[in-house]
Amino acid sequence: MLKGKHIILGITGSIAAYKSAVLCRLLVSAGAEVKVIMTPLAKQFITPLTMATVSKNPILVDFFNPENGEWNSHVKLGEWADLYLIAPASANTMAKMATGVADNLLLTTYLSARCAVAVAPAMDLDMYAHVATQRNMAQLKQDGVHIIEPGSGFLASGLIGKGRMAEPQDIVAAVEAIFAQSEKCAEASEIENPEKKKSLEGKRFLVTAGATIEPIDPVRFISNHSSGKMGYAVAEALAKRGAEVTLVSGRTAIDKPQGVEVVNVLSAEEMYKACVERFSEMDGAVMCAAVADYTPQVVATEKLKKGEGDMSIALKRTKDIAAELGSKKREGQVLVGFAMETENEEQNAAGKLVRKNLDFIVLNSLRREGAGFRGDTNIVSLIDSREKVDLPLMSKSDVAEHIVDKIESFL
Ligand code: C5P
Repeated sequence: MLKGKHIILGITGSIAAYKSAVLCRLLVSAGAEVKVIMTPLAKQFITPLTMATVSKNPILVDFFNPENGEWNSHVKLGEWADLYLIAPASANTMAKMATGVADNLLLTTYLSARCAVAVAPAMDLDMYAHVATQRNMAQLKQDGVHIIEPGSGFLASGLIGKGRMAEPQDIVAAVEAIFAQSEKCAEASEIENPEKKKSLEGKRFLVTAGATIEPIDPVRFISNHSSGKMGYAVAEALAKRGAEVTLVSGRTAIDKPQGVEVVNVLSAEEMYKACVERFSEMDGAVMCAAVADYTPQVVATEKLKKGEGDMSIALKRTKDIAAELGSKKREGQVLVGFAMETENEEQNAAGKLVRKNLDFIVLNSLRREGAGFRGDTNIVSLIDSREKVDLPLMSKSDVAEHIVDKIESFL
């Protein structure tokens, strides 16, 4: 059951950490690959050397390796894992998880993890029974975290009561049950909805993403804060449903999505050419890129020298790629745009919908917490000529799934 599964074992500062070595050994002997993250305090309870030996992997504690500066990417770890198991989970760590505090690698990885998460609490009986701990555990449960109940018995404090971390073999059984349940759910959803996964097979889509770069001279440029995350998530969601995707990407700092052809461009003009060339072969296009509206009239061939006074740079308008594709759109093609507004949001978005001949527009508001450029979450509304649907705060990949659902409704 655990063969080939990727498990992150998180260890927090609790005396029960001594059981984590046995737990890790059981997981490894059941065929799982285990990477261990420890909080700084956990190292006082069990040594990294012990955990590295039983897990057969280096231990992760810090955001980067202090010796060589190598970055421990919590995002990559979160993507790697099939399950994030935190055992023992202290009251402190659970409280931070419940409120989204991310002040160590174990917690940032929790916030990045897309996989199932389980915690095995361990603490003194009064801490466990405290209303705050119970409230945090209820919150975690509501957030979809599996709680592996502690047992009752002798506690490190000398008291007797509930709070002992579940025994390693019971935690392994709980982990197996979590995998069995998620496999059953995946099978059931395939049976219920077999066409959902590959519903876009044979369809071709163009997606733009990221920021364009408008050169001023050989070393300077004009650009913006777009991370490209939203566009990359849309490209990935389309590809997951079987579509052939060409992603025309401006500057981003993220990895290429799987199964997608990427065409890298720099300026708005290059992005325009790449899109116009390809659009006629497409069933649709999603314009997520943050394209510069203006570009320098002349690009200096040598680095501009500073003088005594101020200077200004003459700018000219760039071409509107979405509007150009909108004017060329034929029957059966779907065109989706984005709008990022700071005022008169709906009115401006509705104007763009008509002006650019879009089928629908995704409105992001920069004013709302959790929405915008660099984060992994977004709050958007999907607006077409008939309706406006407001989506709550969710991950950019979930927003992408909603966008692709709506695209399908137009095909
Ligand atoms: O007009 P505005 O820039 O606000 O419109 C945003 C939408 O138009 C986005 O979908 C963006 O990708 C697209 N756009 C474009 N080419 C431009 C400017 C914006 O494709 N030059």
